[in-house]
Amino acid sequence: MRHHDRSPVIIALDTHEPDQALSLARLLDPELCRLKVGKELFTAAGPALVKELHSLGHEVFLDLKFHDIPNTVRKAVAVAASLGVWMLTVHASGGRVMLEAAREGALEGATRGGIDRHPLLVAVTLLTSLGQQDLDDMGIQRTMVEQVQRLASLAQGSGMDGVVCSAVEVAGLRALLRKDFLLITPGIRPAGDSHHDQKRVMTPAEAMRAGSDYLVIGRPVTRSSHPSERLTAICGAL
Ligand code: C5P
Repeated sequence: MRHHDRSPVIIALDTHEPDQALSLARLLDPELCRLKVGKELFTAAGPALVKELHSLGHEVFLDLKFHDIPNTVRKAVAVAASLGVWMLTVHASGGRVMLEAAREGALEGATRGGIDRHPLLVAVTLLTSLGQQDLDDMGIQRTMVEQVQRLASLAQGSGMDGVVCSAVEVAGLRALLRKDFLLITPGIRPAGDSHHDQKRVMTPAEAMRAGSDYLVIGRPVTRSSHPSERLTAICGAL
């Protein structure tokens, strides 16, 4: 089990209803989780919602998966950093110069916002919605595993703090990457829970044992009739 400042659990607020997101946020203990705001919720509710989550005492993982020319990404990351978010995502396939620009943007934005800690920068390697055929279509002549490893190494070499990856990829990546490089894993299901549309899942304890640093969990908590109790149970079983 890897060491953590506090909880390794990140709850995905996958909704476009800000009121729904805030009601859930009020139920969840900030000591037991961080909250992930993705494209849907951010497009609907923007920085104001992030500020409200902060005022409830929550740390925010802003999952906007930036991928653009380096200058644009640097500026976008700087704005995100100035909001004081805890973690944010970019696409590793944006390349080394874009990733390095993201790093600069994070430092600039934190300084501008008067924030002493800049956000953790985490890269998406291959979207797990992609298959081998998609790589072939894009002219990438490598297996999925090889390509994920390649992009994760690029992310590490370009100053990222970690990557998002499937729990089943964790062990392989852990062996390849620096010990303190963060591995953030979705596709987590408590034993006996519905898998929903997730194909290859691990329980929270299994993913932690495999070497995950943070677990992204959505529906098992957000669709629960008792989200707070559910979160407590998940944390208790780690
Ligand atoms: O509800 P569930 O636990 O499946 O939610 C998982 C969250 O992680 C969602 O926000 C989903 O978009 C995200 N995610 C994922 N698989 C990936 C990357 C992100 O499920 N490979």
